[in-house]
Amino acid sequence: MARKFFVAGNWKMNTNRKSACALADGIVHKLDEALVGKADAVEVGLCPPFVYLSDVARLVTNGRAKAWLGAQDLYTQDNGAFTGEISAAMLKDVGVHFVLCGHSERRHVIGEGDDLINAKVKKALAEGLRVILCIGETLDQRKANQTLEVNRRQVQAGLAGVGAGQLANLVIAYEPVWAIGTGVTASPAQAQEVHAQVRKLLADLYSRAAAEAMQIQYGGSVKPDNAAELMGQPDIDGALVGGASLKVEDFVAIIAAAARVA
Ligand code: 13P
Repeated sequence: MARKFFVAGNWKMNTNRKSACALADGIVHKLDEALVGKADAVEVGLCPPFVYLSDVARLVTNGRAKAWLGAQDLYTQDNGAFTGEISAAMLKDVGVHFVLCGHSERRHVIGEGDDLINAKVKKALAEGLRVILCIGETLDQRKANQTLEVNRRQVQAGLAGVGAGQLANLVIAYEPVWAIGTGVTASPAQAQEVHAQVRKLLADLYSRAAAEAMQIQYGGSVKPDNAAELMGQPDIDGALVGGASLKVEDFVAIIAAAARVA
C-alpha cells in the first residue's frame, strides 16, 4: 500500500493565543480546497506551543478531525516532582494525537541526549501517542562525512527497545540542522540520499515491509516553492515545516503541493 504523505507544522515558540487560533482556523478552513480530493493520501498536523494546545484542539477536531494535533515535546514520567515538564497523559487529556521527539533544537539548544530522547519515544508510544522522531546532522558533521553515521546513530538510539509492533505509530523526520531556519534547503537529491539510507537502516533493524511502510518526512526550510520537488522524491513522505507553517497561505500551499504529488 502506498505511503501517505504527512505534512506537519512545528510552530516552535511562536504565536500568542489569538494568533495561534487564527492560524489554526485559517488552515482548517482551507484544507478541503488544498487537498482537492486527496484527503485520504495526505495527513496534516499542527504543533502549537503547549499552552495553546487546548485552544487549537477545539479548532482542528470540531466534528471530524481535520488535522492531527501534535505537541513539540513530552516528559518520560507520569506525574510528580518534575517542575516545568508535561506528561503524555496531560497531552492526551487535551486532545493531542502525536508528539515530536528529539527535535534538533531540543538536542542542540536544550541539550537532550539520545538516551532521554529514546525514553521519550518509548513513553509516548506506550501511551498510544504517535511519534515523530527527528534526526539530522550538523554542518560540521556533514563536512566531516559523518552524515550517514550520525543519522544511523540517532535512529538506532532513538528506537532502542521499540518493537516492530509499535512502528505503525512512528514517523521519522530527517531535518539536517544546517537547513533549519536558515533558508538553505537540502537539495532534493541530498535529502533523498539520506532518506533512502534511513529506510535501508530500518529494513536492517526491522524488516523490509516495516521500512517500506514508514513515513519519513523532510524538514529544513521547506517552502511553497520547493515542497513539490522535495516530496516528489521516492523516499520523502511529507514535510515537517517550521517558519512556513506560521503563515496560512504558505502552509496551505505546501499541503497543496503534497496533494499534487500524491
Ligand atoms: P524551518 O522550516 O523554519 O527551517 O524549520 C524546520 C523545523 O525545524 C521543523 O521542525
